[in-house]
Amino acid sequence: MSEQKFLWWKKAVIYQIYPRSFRDSTGNGIGDLPGVLEKLPYLDEVLGVDALWLSPFYPSPMKDFGYDVADYRGVDPLFGTLDDFDRLLEESHRRDIRMIIDLVPNHSSDQHRWFQESRSSRDNPKRDWYIWADPQPDGSPPNNWLSVFGGPAWEWDENTGQYYLHSFLKEQPDLNWRNPEVKEAMFDIVRFWLDRGVDGFRIDVAHYILKDPEMRDNPQNPRPMSSIHKPLGEYDSQMHLYDKGHPDVHEIYRELRVLLDSYGSNQPRVSIGEIHIFDWEEWSRYYGENLDELHMPYNFSLLGASWSADEFRRLVGELEAHLPDGSWPNYVLGTHDDHRLASRYGRGQARVAAMMLLTLRGTPTIYYGEEIGMEDIHLPPEMELDPAHAQKRDANRSPMQWTAGEQAGFSPPGGQDPWLPIHKNYRQVNVASEKEDPASMLSLYRSLLAVRKEFPVLQNGSYEALTDSPKNCFCYFRKTSRQTLLVALNFSREPRMLPDAVKSKDILLSTRLDRKGPADGPLTLRPLEGLILDL
Ligand code: NOJ
Repeated sequence: MSEQKFLWWKKAVIYQIYPRSFRDSTGNGIGDLPGVLEKLPYLDEVLGVDALWLSPFYPSPMKDFGYDVADYRGVDPLFGTLDDFDRLLEESHRRDIRMIIDLVPNHSSDQHRWFQESRSSRDNPKRDWYIWADPQPDGSPPNNWLSVFGGPAWEWDENTGQYYLHSFLKEQPDLNWRNPEVKEAMFDIVRFWLDRGVDGFRIDVAHYILKDPEMRDNPQNPRPMSSIHKPLGEYDSQMHLYDKGHPDVHEIYRELRVLLDSYGSNQPRVSIGEIHIFDWEEWSRYYGENLDELHMPYNFSLLGASWSADEFRRLVGELEAHLPDGSWPNYVLGTHDDHRLASRYGRGQARVAAMMLLTLRGTPTIYYGEEIGMEDIHLPPEMELDPAHAQKRDANRSPMQWTAGEQAGFSPPGGQDPWLPIHKNYRQVNVASEKEDPASMLSLYRSLLAVRKEFPVLQNGSYEALTDSPKNCFCYFRKTSRQTLLVALNFSREPRMLPDAVKSKDILLSTRLDRKGPADGPLTLRPLEGLILDL
């Protein structure tokens, strides 16, 4: 079954909200769903995004800030109520904004009643809902698997004399997807949210849910570097052949797809998998042989790129070359797990990156705050909250900067201190000030979103790299039979002249927001300038 139609999620610009950090409506220092509702006019009328992805808001002990779910069908009181969720969904839909929510199928919280039952005795009916195994004869863990967050992936349970598997924190036990009851329970949860009207799911570590049934040891990793886009410490010492990504996983996603498709064509739903696989062939398998699995595995390839036009061109070319026929690409430059764009590359570079993200062929996801150029905060070790210490993810989860006023407008006046410090640049870097500044990062994002809407070729046109791009520039065409645009991105700190062949043109947008309109003769890109040209 091939996807011929140009469905909403192909046109959409997705905006990721980390609810804890977006807007605190109660003054307890933690963002919440009514806070998101309050800011819908901004997302809709100021920025103009098409879909929201909400990171988890479910009841949770918050050991991993919500990625440890204790009840998949509710809202944590910190974030509001189910009614708040329904209101947010209704109002988003009224504004024609779709809502994607996070599904966390690989693991629950250890406080979930399923796990409480599972660990209560070896013969509890839910024992097999999690992955339990006997110790080795010397009492050590069943195999050498490691947790992404450090240490062994096995935790000893004194009460029942077995180990349980946790690919992340010990408070996040892995569910046993080989047990059909687990799959049914999770699919019921999917139905619960689809029935409420959500438009789709971002599936947390989608490739982790099935492991080697024989639970073989992972081999050592002969290469010192990480298998993903950032170093994970001890975890990188192994090749993760057996602790995730077992091919049986594809059958599960085919079934999930049938379930999503059964919700009919009136409101097509989307599945986007968080899949950190950097072997293109293996990654692309998650679309399904007949495009019958996930609508999109998230493409994280750009997140690890250094600031080099050649590197970005190569990665985009590789993606384009490996996409199965009829499948749809996507791009990500920031998430709640990765350092801020402006901190990774610099503020000027972040503007060029924004133009790239929003003009490549495929669905872009913007991480909240990137549109105003938020930067990482730096926390002294004693203030760090992220359980994944090595990854320092607090840095990129600081509260959204709305105004130059008290607490950057994140909390109502007089509210408690926010859960993470606000970046000290908030007096300049905030929505209210940037809205008034025609050259701000926010103005750039708004313009990019507006140009995408005005020129559908940016949504549905083909991608073709310009072969003779000037040095350290990444230039590409977006083409339909009716229109050709050229996006020209100067990654260097020197001016660069575009080839003569690119002659008569109209500047639609400059990352500096200071030139527009017809430009004849040779055209020069200023240092770190990006242009969208109508040829
Ligand atoms: C991936 C999520 O993006 C990350 O934030 C989380 O810590 C792990 N999965 C575990 O759920």
